[in-house]
Amino acid sequence: MRSDSYTFKILRYDSTEHDREPYFTSYRVRVIPGLTILMVLLRIRDEIDGTLAFRSSCRSAVCGSCAMVINGKIDLACRTQAASFGTDTIILEPLPNLQIIKDLVVDMTPFWKMYEKIKPYLIRRNQNPEKEIPQTEEERKRIDQYVNCILCASCYGACPVPSKDPDYIGPAAFAKLERFVLDSRDERPKRSLEAVNDDKGVWGCDMVLRCIDACPKDVRPTDSIVGLRKQLLKYKSKKIFSMGKDED
Ligand code: SF4
Ligand code: FES
Repeated sequence: MRSDSYTFKILRYDSTEHDREPYFTSYRVRVIPGLTILMVLLRIRDEIDGTLAFRSSCRSAVCGSCAMVINGKIDLACRTQAASFGTDTIILEPLPNLQIIKDLVVDMTPFWKMYEKIKPYLIRRNQNPEKEIPQTEEERKRIDQYVNCILCASCYGACPVPSKDPDYIGPAAFAKLERFVLDSRDERPKRSLEAVNDDKGVWGCDMVLRCIDACPKDVRPTDSIVGLRKQLLKYKSKKIFSMGKDED
């Protein structure tokens, strides 16, 4: 089996050291086929530099905690093969649009704040249903891609809007909202979509589609933005034709 030593240039920063700018540290690590970027990071931390900080948990592209910029592209460290780049220098940086706490660990608070805003759970008129609410296969298919979201924030990091407007709700939250709007069991009132009916919401999207490129689970947040815009227009025109009377 072929093996080579690669250089991993990793952005280092400690938010508690106020007088020090971010800088890169290089590590040489032997790479064998099959070694993921996450395994490289674990090796560096365990064998070379115990001060290196990064997040991980499942190691199998499920928990969403290891998203970062790998050679200029956002991806999950645990699903990216170190030998897949055709270069023996690999640069690792934290997710953009979020403050660095330490090295590759970012403060996810703004991401979760936006996520909470859209009420990311099933809403029923009767809060205590006595039996389960079944779905047909067709109904389940409508939400398939959005259910796959693992909340890794890759799309949020790739989006150009949060850096201009930190109050922009962002692609992951829109994808989750659409997941519930399309869910046959959800009964949230249409008027609740007003929460995303402005430039901080779905009308703030620049439609550059970077969220789609960045998503490791093939979710297309832009589809959700288009879907929500359509829902809002439909709701608005219905409201106008019913002389301002809200049906919900
Ligand atoms: S939509 Fe994709 S990129 Fe965005 S949080 Fe969900 S899984 Fe991650
Ligand atoms: S460690 Fe869970 S997604 Fe990478």
